Amino acid sequence: AAPGRGNKGMAPFEPIAPTPADVDDLVVPEGYSWAPVISWGDPVEAGAPDFDVNNQTVESQKMQAGYNADYLAIHRGGAGNNGANKGLIIFNNEYTNPEVMFPGYDPVAGPTAEQAAIEMAAHGMTIVEVERQGQFSPWAYDRHGARNRRIHAWTQFHVDGPAGGAEWMKTSADPTGHMVLGTLNNCAGGETPWGTSLSGEENFNQYFNATGADDAQGKLKRYGITSAGRGWERAEDRFMVLTEPNEVNRFGWIVEVDPEDPTSMPVKHTALGRFKHEGATIRLAADGRAVAYMGDDERFDYIYKFVSRDTYVEGDKAHNMTLLSEGDLYVAKFEGDGLGDGEWDGVGTWIALVKDGASMVPGMSVAEVLTWTRMAADKMGPTKMDRPEDVQPNPHTGAVYVALTNNTRRTPAQIDEANPRASNKFGHVIEWVEAGNDAAALAFTWRIVLIAGVPSDPSTYFNGYDRSLVSPISCPDNVAFDEDPDHLWISTDGAPGTIGTCDGMFLMPTAGPDKGKVQQFLSVPTGAECCGPVVEWADRSILICVQHPGEDGHSAYPYLGDSVPRPGVAHVYRTAR
Ligand code: FEO
Ligand code: CA
Ligand code: CA
Ligand code: CA
Repeated sequence: AAPGRGNKGMAPFEPIAPTPADVDDLVVPEGYSWAPVISWGDPVEAGAPDFDVNNQTVESQKMQAGYNADYLAIHRGGAGNNGANKGLIIFNNEYTNPEVMFPGYDPVAGPTAEQAAIEMAAHGMTIVEVERQGQFSPWAYDRHGARNRRIHAWTQFHVDGPAGGAEWMKTSADPTGHMVLGTLNNCAGGETPWGTSLSGEENFNQYFNATGADDAQGKLKRYGITSAGRGWERAEDRFMVLTEPNEVNRFGWIVEVDPEDPTSMPVKHTALGRFKHEGATIRLAADGRAVAYMGDDERFDYIYKFVSRDTYVEGDKAHNMTLLSEGDLYVAKFEGDGLGDGEWDGVGTWIALVKDGASMVPGMSVAEVLTWTRMAADKMGPTKMDRPEDVQPNPHTGAVYVALTNNTRRTPAQIDEANPRASNKFGHVIEWVEAGNDAAALAFTWRIVLIAGVPSDPSTYFNGYDRSLVSPISCPDNVAFDEDPDHLWISTDGAPGTIGTCDGMFLMPTAGPDKGKVQQFLSVPTGAECCGPVVEWADRSILICVQHPGEDGHSAYPYLGDSVPRPGVAHVYRTAR
């Protein structure tokens, strides 16, 4: 089936050619156009000033769109004035590039206290109402939307689950251990069936300075917390581990936000464990329990899943928002069946870390397992993966896909059938199906569907498709699905440094005659990674995040005449039938 299958009268797209890494443009296929929806610094909350790169303040940044967006979702449900042409978007703001955002920034000295505080205000999430004038026009945001909201480094988060209130969660500012200010380094995420958004706190280690801190048990080291830091302790001493040793334990969680209610307090769910959370995506089990799939994005780290104790109740949002507060936590083990069958495939098992409210890990309590989840998993023999990024179930079929972005440190002695390439520069994608296709099952079958790279490289694999007919692709990061059950979309982060092209977004059908035919749909400007794709293919509508344009070199994105690039959300749409 052609990509246009099921959408009568709409043309499939003509794949774009690979874009050289220095091209400063958002390249879309013939017949499509694009427009920025919202960019860093655009006013979001009531009273926010217009963006002015030369007059950045903490107070204005708290009310303006945050920096580098990764996860993105569109909501049309809820109580607002929604419909086909109205809704809201939520996107997170993973990190900042101070050397790009502040004119005259001194990279040797690092940020001033005020610059660090502006960076704190530019982290978190942004929620804005959007509308469009019909199918062949772009989404635009409403700076006066009633549900517009910024979540930043001083927004209050409730900490729930078994590790909430633990001794090591208490700080001088929060003697309860249940109230954290801010969320940091939110990478990918997912929508829940009950209308909220999940987002993962990923590389939270970088904000903390561990100079002089005691690490006898290796807990800081296992999470990459060093003396490097980003200078944020100049703004607030909670980022100095020696001064406030427990603050670092309050980051590295999955957060849940209700974007429909701008007065709601977001939650950090400790039941889903603490690691460098890429994101979390939900599928309901056969018995109605909520299952969250999660990756820990580090070389040689693991894939996890959480299974809620309680079950989903259609229409009861308040109840459903408690589902991620209590449940079982598992980590994945992949076993190959040998390469004699010509496939990288086999069976897998979910190893319990927490089950029925009890710890399955010798010498660790439930709360300890959830807080130092990496160290708990290390004891249980899961498979060390090539940087697990986005993990998402196909909502139509239940098959689960994980993007393993790369791992150049894997040696030939360390390869296994699920991570089969030494010095894996280009990454791969694994598909698995749970036993009985039940998300709560404890066993699964798996196979590799993509081994990325330039197709002339014999180590690449495109699910059996003819290599000479596909687009080069490197460093898969986010995966997404649309209305077509066979459509797997992959966006990338790392192509410039590995195959010399701009990052972008690709379609790779998972079934049918085009199975494995990787076709590039778009590319993002130089230095940027392509994130958060939201594909509404029946409308040929694609929302993306253009993250860190100009990170290496210069970009003028979104080409509105500013002296610095402004990361943000773009809409790609078809200009005519
Ligand atoms: Fe923020 Fe794992 O990428
Ligand atoms: Ca095999
Ligand atoms: Ca990512
Ligand atoms: Ca990435």
